Amino acid sequence: MASMKNGIKSPIKPAPRVAGTTQDVWSIINAAAAATEKQPVVNMGQGFFGYNPPQFLIDAAKSAVERVDCNQYAPPKGRLRLRQAVSNAYSPFWGRKLDPETEIAITTGANEGFLSCCMSFLQQDDEVLLLEPFFDQYISNIEMAGAKVVSVALQPPKSGMTKTHSAGEWSLDIEALKRAVTPRTRMLVLNTPHNPLGKIFNVEELKQISDVCVQNNILIISDEVYDRLFYVPFTRIATMSPEVERITLTLSSAGKNFYATGWRVGWVMGPPELITYIVKAHARICYCSPSPLQEAFAIGFEQAEDNGFWDECIRDMKFKMDFFNEIWHELDMPYSEPEGGYFVVANMSKVKLPENYPFPPHVLERPRDFKLAWFLIQELGVAAIPPSEFYSPQNQHIGEQWMRFAVCKPDSVLEAAKERLRGLKEYMK
Ligand SMILES: Cc1ncc(COP(=O)(O)O)c(C=O)c1O
Repeated sequence: MASMKNGIKSPIKPAPRVAGTTQDVWSIINAAAAATEKQPVVNMGQGFFGYNPPQFLIDAAKSAVERVDCNQYAPPKGRLRLRQAVSNAYSPFWGRKLDPETEIAITTGANEGFLSCCMSFLQQDDEVLLLEPFFDQYISNIEMAGAKVVSVALQPPKSGMTKTHSAGEWSLDIEALKRAVTPRTRMLVLNTPHNPLGKIFNVEELKQISDVCVQNNILIISDEVYDRLFYVPFTRIATMSPEVERITLTLSSAGKNFYATGWRVGWVMGPPELITYIVKAHARICYCSPSPLQEAFAIGFEQAEDNGFWDECIRDMKFKMDFFNEIWHELDMPYSEPEGGYFVVANMSKVKLPENYPFPPHVLERPRDFKLAWFLIQELGVAAIPPSEFYSPQNQHIGEQWMRFAVCKPDSVLEAAKERLRGLKEYMK
C-alpha cells in the first residue's frame, strides 16, 4: 500500500520502525503550545536552556570555526584535544588517569552515544532492562538494534500523593529487578541524576544494581548527562569497583554540561575493550561529530574548572529550582524535591479537571497527565511534560498524576510560570 502524509500519497513505503502513527509527547505538547490562544506560552516543557552558553565557550567556538583544521572531519573517536580535556576533567572522579586514546569516544550528543552502545552490543531479541520512568529516546534506539525493552518501575514514595518528599525516595524494588533478568538480558540502562525524577541513585542502590549486573554479565549503560548538576553527593556507578568498571559504559553530554544542547557533542567513557566497538559503530552511524564544536568544548573544559564554572552551574540551577518550587508550597501541592538535574515532578492529584472539558481525541485517549498538560496549556498558558510517556503501557498509571517542569529557563520565565500556575487554585480540590 502507498504511504500517506499530509494527504499526499507516496508510492514508497516507510519501514515499520518509523511508520507508527501515534504522536509522541513532544509533537503533542509543542503543537498544543503553538496553537493555544494563551500566547506567548510559558514553556517549561522540553529540557532546552532558555539562555546562552557561557561567553568563554562562545568565544572558543568563534575561534574554532576560523581554523582550517577544525572545519574538516574529526577522527571518528573524536578530536584528541577534547578527549584529553574530558580525561583531565573526569580522571579525578575515577581516582586514576582515564586514557584519552582508548577509554573515551566522542559522539554526536549522548543520544548518538547511546545508539552506538545499542548497535555495538545488542542483537535481535536481546533484552534490555530499563528503570521506569525513562528518557523516551532509549526505546527507539534499543528497538532499532532489534532488542526488546524489559522495564522495572521505580516506586513513588508512599506519601508522594500528599506530601513533598526527596526525589531520592522513588525506590527500586531490587527483587523485581532480579526477577526481570533472563538468559537474554544483555544490558541495563541507569540514568543518574535522573530525568524526569531528579533522583540520584545512592551508593547502596548502585551496589545492589551493579551486583545483579556483575553476577549476570550484564553491560551497564550509565546515562549521566546531568552529572554537573547534583545537590546531594553523586557517585558514578563505574567507580564502585574494578569489576563494575569492566562492564560499564558511562554516557555524558557536553551540550548539557555547557548549556549548548544544539551543538550535539557528547562522549562515552569505559574500558578499552568496550570503547573500541563504540568507535566502530559511531564511525558507521555518522563517521564523526561536529569538529569545530568539539574544539570549542575542549577549550571550554580546559577553562571551566579555573573559571569556577562547575560550581556556578550548581549554584545557579539550585537557585532556579528552589525559586520555581516555591509555587508548590504556595499551592500546597506535593512535589519530588530534586537531588540533581533540572527537572522537577509535581503531583497534580489535587487538580480537578472540569467535567466535559473539550479535550481533542488524541488527548482523550491518553492517561490523565496528558489531559492535565493540555489543560495547563489551554487555560494557563504553561507548557509542561506528562511523564506517563516515560513508562511502558502497563505502568503508565504510576506517572499519570505527575507533571514534569524544566527549570533551565531565565528567572523571568520562572516568575511568569509561577504567576500563571497560581491560576490552578480555582481548580484544586
Ligand atoms: C536522560 C537523558 N539522556 C540523554 C539525553 C540526550 O543528550 P544529548 O543532547 O547530549 O544527546 C537527554 C536529553 O534530554 C536526557 O534527558
